Amino acid sequence: MSFLKPAARPWRATDFNYSRVMPRQFDADLLYILRATALVESRADQYGDYLRAVFATRGAAWREAIDRWNHEEAEHGRALRRLCETADAPFAFDRHMGAYLNGVAYHACDGRSVRGSIAGELVARCIVEALASTFYRVLRDSCHDETGRAVLHTLALDEARHYGMFNAMLQAETAQLPLSRWRRMRVGLGRMLELSDDQIMFAAWLVDADAPPRYRRSRTARSYQAALYRHYHFEHLHFAARLICPVLFGSRSRALSRVFAAGLWLGLRLRGGLSRLGSLSSRPAQPQHC
Ligand SMILES: [Fe+2]
Ligand SMILES: [Fe+2]
Repeated sequence: MSFLKPAARPWRATDFNYSRVMPRQFDADLLYILRATALVESRADQYGDYLRAVFATRGAAWREAIDRWNHEEAEHGRALRRLCETADAPFAFDRHMGAYLNGVAYHACDGRSVRGSIAGELVARCIVEALASTFYRVLRDSCHDETGRAVLHTLALDEARHYGMFNAMLQAETAQLPLSRWRRMRVGLGRMLELSDDQIMFAAWLVDADAPPRYRRSRTARSYQAALYRHYHFEHLHFAARLICPVLFGSRSRALSRVFAAGLWLGLRLRGGLSRLGSLSSRPAQPQHC
């Protein structure tokens, strides 16, 4: 049994025609988000090590799925790095990546899930992959460069397959050890609220040429959210809701997914508006931090 369905069109980061990238088609906000994401995706081996330890007792099919997933996530990092280096010449990837690895530790590989159980870990992974697929759809739809759109579309499809993989593992796990609906909602909604944690924000601070010399998560989150959230439309959030609702509530109801999407849309509009106000008032000319 294979948890991860193969890609309809297998690809490698070197398959894209980067010589056709037109730097002027990338605005500053998109490049800022892409640079930060290139760092986060490029730490795939640490995510893989953590999950291999958490799932160590579950056998060869689980190990094989995580190995393939790890490989694909690392390829995402390579594709985004190449795209950023082509669209944005001064991107010093190696220096930023070194600072990122030194600056933010990932979860310990001691075999324990930070979500309290293997099923909880799988709920969190489903949420992350659903939101990642949505995120790449949003970036694709706001990108005017043909190669950039092709890369981001490919990543969106991969993340949706990853969601399918973790959801299949969740079904297998909960068939043996059921997880209460309350626990699913608690872990899943908690993971959604962690989107402005240090894992992404420290990367965003490192790649922001206008950032102050000292890292402050709340300030970075305002800049990041102001740059990103305005690109989310209701259709994007409805896509996310259709993936997330079955995991959180065990329901594929269209009405529920539309209500959930509306809640996400309102939350993002509110948070994005407040972030824009905050970042306007706290964004005087600053020295470059590195
Ligand atoms: Fe990815
Ligand atoms: Fe993924």
